[in-house]
Amino acid sequence: MKLLSFLAAAAAASTTVYGAVQKVTRAGRYMYTADGNRFYVKGIAYQTQGQIVSGPDNPLNQPSTFVDQLADSAGCARDLPFLQQLGVNAIRAYSVDSTLNHDSCMAALSGAGIYVILDLTLPLNGSIDTTLPTWSTNLLDLYIDTINVFSKYDNVLAYNVGNEVLTNGATNAAPFIKAAARDIKAYLASIGSSALVGYADIDGAAAFPRRRLRLPQLRSDEWCGDAATSTYDNLNSEFENYNVVAYFSEFGSENCDPGVRPWTEVGTLFASPMTNIWSGGLAFSYFNASSAGHQFGMATLSADNTTVTTNQDFANLQSQYKSVTFVNTPTQSAAAQSTYGACPQPDANLEASTTLPPTPNDSACACLTEHLGCLFKMPANGDYTALVGTLTGVVCGELLPGVGGSCNDIATNGTTGTYGVVSSCDPVTRLSYAFSQYYDLTSRAATSCDFSGNATTNSVIGNVLAPSAAVSTCLPSPSAVFTPSAPSGASAAASASGSSGSGSNGNGSGGGKTGGAVEVRVGAGMLMTLVAGVLGGVAFTLL
Ligand SMILES: *[C@@H]1O[C@H](CO)[C@@H](O)[C@H](O)[C@H]1NC(C)=O
Ligand SMILES: *[C@@H]1O[C@H](CO)[C@@H](O)[C@H](O)[C@H]1NC(C)=O
Ligand SMILES: *[C@@H]1O[C@H](CO)[C@@H](O)[C@H](O)[C@H]1NC(C)=O
Ligand SMILES: *[C@@H]1O[C@H](CO)[C@@H](O)[C@H](O)[C@H]1NC(C)=O
Ligand SMILES: *[C@@H]1O[C@H](CO)[C@@H](O)[C@H](O)[C@H]1NC(C)=O
Ligand SMILES: *[C@@H]1O[C@H](CO)[C@@H](O)[C@H](O)[C@H]1NC(C)=O
Repeated sequence: MKLLSFLAAAAAASTTVYGAVQKVTRAGRYMYTADGNRFYVKGIAYQTQGQIVSGPDNPLNQPSTFVDQLADSAGCARDLPFLQQLGVNAIRAYSVDSTLNHDSCMAALSGAGIYVILDLTLPLNGSIDTTLPTWSTNLLDLYIDTINVFSKYDNVLAYNVGNEVLTNGATNAAPFIKAAARDIKAYLASIGSSALVGYADIDGAAAFPRRRLRLPQLRSDEWCGDAATSTYDNLNSEFENYNVVAYFSEFGSENCDPGVRPWTEVGTLFASPMTNIWSGGLAFSYFNASSAGHQFGMATLSADNTTVTTNQDFANLQSQYKSVTFVNTPTQSAAAQSTYGACPQPDANLEASTTLPPTPNDSACACLTEHLGCLFKMPANGDYTALVGTLTGVVCGELLPGVGGSCNDIATNGTTGTYGVVSSCDPVTRLSYAFSQYYDLTSRAATSCDFSGNATTNSVIGNVLAPSAAVSTCLPSPSAVFTPSAPSGASAAASASGSSGSGSNGNGSGGGKTGGAVEVRVGAGMLMTLVAGVLGGVAFTLL
């Protein structure tokens, strides 16, 4: 009871005062608070795990659903004392729903000096896809909607544009992640936000912008116990000359008995020489979570979600975090400039072009939809993601090739840096474009715009252009990079939900549905699987 009233007071107070935490800025590879001290992430992952639907399409066992923890004011009130006992100064949330209200949680956290590292992605179709990546209007709009909701809070430390998208076997999504970081950075600057932009990398992946592969030590048994600095040698050598802020976005050995991790690596992570390179990390995880057969978690909720029981893991982390003294060097003025070295050149381990895709252009995609001859028809239930995926596979894999066409205009290849002129539009627009190409190549026969009842001809016949003419009309400079603006319908302070026509996904960029990812077929009969991401194993993030 005491607890609840304290939080209610904190929440009420901070609706007027959001200035409880200091602003954090980056200088070279380090972060500093406004008072000039070095800032380290001493944090914990804070999100209940969504429902996991395992299967060959979900090799990382990533959840397909999520609960927005930062919209659960009672939950935040319940957990805040435990977060304070742990002594964390940051939490990471993996997915939020921009249509919900986050004032109470954000204010309570801010009042307790706790920053939030927020992933902008959602499960399944709300993320850049590992194997069929695009950086498209629907994702850009999703990210901006979330930023618009969170930009009013003083304690958002960073936004992550991707979580564990790149894997050892699939690095061709790297240019899309970089483009997302580029555009989100530009957007944040345009609204005066100083939040940092990050990407959470998977442990052991060949990844952007890392130069080397495989970090077996990260998963070694040494992590379950006292970690020698040498445990991190490979990782350190990758990052020692890399002028970005880096921290461990999820740490904590998966090789200990559940609930009894000693967390003694904390002492290593927050001491020199690790602090020369790293800015702390986020322990994984406050709530129960399972990953790759391992169990994590420090707080078990009662059946009615009102009380918390902590375990030995919690006590151990608390004791380790308590003994951390931040190394306060170098000084901010001695930190190097915030410059970046040249990006690594593509090779067999980094199949990623240095040519990035353009900034997605909402009005261009809306303009296309106005001018295309044959349009995808929304299913009555609005759940179009899997259907769009299926249909894109059919039209690209069979129909268009059969009449001498191709889906090159909606396809991407991050390895070669080839981006079809329409590929940064949302999946529904891309599908309508492919439908229209087929319609045109079959002389706009009435029967050619049907697709088993999934398509309809453009009712404003006077508007209809050949697909290529629609492209020249709507996309005068298809590779343009520019500062994106908020999607129409979204206000600066609150997000709009329910965009129609755009804001979809499908083949060529995530075509999952709750219940499992789907196989996708794109271009010249290439078969791939879709995975989209939330939780994973041990990882770290670049800001
Ligand atoms: C969380 O994990 C612990 C230890 O594995 C287990 O005892 C507990 O039942 C779990 N709680 C929930 C709600 O799953
Ligand atoms: C407890 O919270 C979880 C999400 O955090 C939710 O899925 C579940 O329905 C809640 N249970 C009750 C009884 O409220
Ligand atoms: C990209 O192009 C290269 C070279 O043509 C090809 O080997 C590769 O399979 C393509 N990747 C995708 C994802 O289409
Ligand atoms: C749309 O396409 C799907 C997949 O091919 C098919 O099952 C369905 O019957 C089609 N028609 C409608 C109206 O959904
Ligand atoms: C975006 O698309 C609109 C509509 O076609 C076009 O007028 C505008 O020039 C495009 N923006 C850029 C930067 O290419
Ligand atoms: C994902 O798909 C659903 C419908 O299937 C849609 O409402 C939502 O906007 C899509 N999200 C994105 C980011 O494309």
